[in-house]
Amino acid sequence: MRVVAVLNQKGGSGKTTIATNLACGVQRRGYRVALVDADPQKTASEWAARGDDTPPTYEATKDLETNVPALSGSFDVVVIDGAPRMTELATSAVKVADLILIPVQPSGADIWAAEDILDIIEARQKVAGGPDAAFVVSRAVAQTNLAATIRGALESYGVRVLDTRTGHRVAYPEALGAGLSVLDTSGKAAEEIESLTTEVIDLLTNSNE
Ligand SMILES: Nc1ncnc2c1ncn2[C@@H]1O[C@H](COP(=O)(O)OP(=O)(O)OP(=O)(O)O)[C@@H](O)[C@H]1O
Ligand SMILES: [Mg+2]
Repeated sequence: MRVVAVLNQKGGSGKTTIATNLACGVQRRGYRVALVDADPQKTASEWAARGDDTPPTYEATKDLETNVPALSGSFDVVVIDGAPRMTELATSAVKVADLILIPVQPSGADIWAAEDILDIIEARQKVAGGPDAAFVVSRAVAQTNLAATIRGALESYGVRVLDTRTGHRVAYPEALGAGLSVLDTSGKAAEEIESLTTEVIDLLTNSNE
């Protein structure tokens, strides 16, 4: 079983959007996927309750470090949707994850805000040799200077930047509100999530068991 945690204490950075769509994307590739909602606001749980094809979704308990590994008999991939604010749950999520995705909107303030989670990941990597981490540019507006320069700004942290980004598209909030993924729609957002799914599966299968 592989575990992907979508973390960034910056509120509204796109964690739930990426976690829910990625979980559906991986599920559609034939993997058994669970979504773990680590946010007290419970957005992912509400999303899951609204949809028909949503992956099994669990509200995280304090004991993530016991409860996530316990899913390994039933699921191939677990996606954890993190909370705004660096709660204890986020620290536990870093411990149980193989890969951390850090959604960042293209703005200086959003990039700086990611430094807290990077510190936690680095501290864990020093003692445990993992997890792997990658930035995902979220809500990019095409043809803006910020969208063009963000890759360089993120790469300066020495962390991988995924090739896939999500563009600023109305399909995302529409799907989130309806218990759907953007894969249920056609168009650019669906292409983005297909591409994200491929990139993440590649990273998960290439990192050590
Ligand atoms: N690519 C996008 N295009 C347009 N809207 C988006 C995009 N990504 C996210 N949003 C919208 O922005 C808002 C915040 O996104 P989301 O809930 O995914 O962020 P979050 O990091 O989970 O927030 P929180 O920290 O509150 O949990 C939501 O209304 C969502 O629908
Ligand atoms: Mg959220």
